[in-house]
Amino acid sequence: MSDTRPPARRPADVPAPRAGEPGPHTGDVPVLRAEGLVKTHHGEGAPARAVRGVGLSVAHGEFVAVTGPSGAGKSTLLHLLGGLQRPDEGSIWLDGRCTDGYGEARWAEERRRRIGIVFQFFNLVSNLSVADNVELPALLAGRSPRQARAEREELLAELGLDGKERSMPGELSGGEQQRVALARALVNHPPLLLADEPAGSLDSRGTREVMRLLSRFHGRGQTIVLVTHDARLASAADRVISFFDGRIVDDAALDGTPPPRGAGISGVLELRD
Ligand SMILES: Nc1ncnc2c1ncn2[C@@H]1O[C@H](COP(=O)(O)OP(=O)(O)OP(=O)(O)O)[C@@H](O)[C@H]1O
Ligand SMILES: [Mg+2]
Repeated sequence: MSDTRPPARRPADVPAPRAGEPGPHTGDVPVLRAEGLVKTHHGEGAPARAVRGVGLSVAHGEFVAVTGPSGAGKSTLLHLLGGLQRPDEGSIWLDGRCTDGYGEARWAEERRRRIGIVFQFFNLVSNLSVADNVELPALLAGRSPRQARAEREELLAELGLDGKERSMPGELSGGEQQRVALARALVNHPPLLLADEPAGSLDSRGTREVMRLLSRFHGRGQTIVLVTHDARLASAADRVISFFDGRIVDDAALDGTPPPRGAGISGVLELRD
């Protein structure tokens, strides 16, 4: 299969906005849309064709789990969707806005305001305390120190991290660091959460806490894209996308019906591959 296939058919009611222009703000505009994403990593070894032509659309309030074997390209896809890496080909729209022209600063702004990211390997700031790691994004987004502190206290309590506020990340277990990373991603109540294995280092109790928290945010209308190997976590989602060898090979709503495709039914549209 070629990576240079034509772009996915665009639903008739969602015209392509120009770069940086707002799209039509109807209820049908997906919070996240990607077309024709391709990404090859050029490291020391042979080039790794991590993402090989992915199109997907995520509606407001949807909870999507992405599953697939190690090396399938799941983290790469998430990094593309959060603007942490740039695709070699293809485009991404956030709330109908094409991000083609976005530079680092604009993507950083989007992540500060609208996209929370939980990294597979945590990426906590090692010389900041747990409390400061969680509060930092809130302060950067303009919250008062008091608001940031209140939000941090609530999240850490909910994640079973009471008493760890003053700890440094290096003093925490892997599972504890993972929960701090989740709290940090959620502190600004981002409309879109991209979470890469947020329970990968957790025991079953920790996994339940993460599930409860994600379900609570989802219940408030937050959109979640969750990469996970954990069938229990995936079962909390509305929709499961199976990723294999850089491509989407299956996409199903968890009630057993495929998600609506094509022209504009509730903004959940086409998936190729
Ligand atoms: N920075 C990089 N440089 C070179 N190759 C990379 C880089 N990042 C990822 N890859 C390669 O791209 C492919 C996809 O990697 P990716 O991390 O996206 O997979 P994954 O599905 O998240 O795997 P896992 O479930 O193990 O986390 C792999 O073959 C990997 O070795
Ligand atoms: Mg990964």
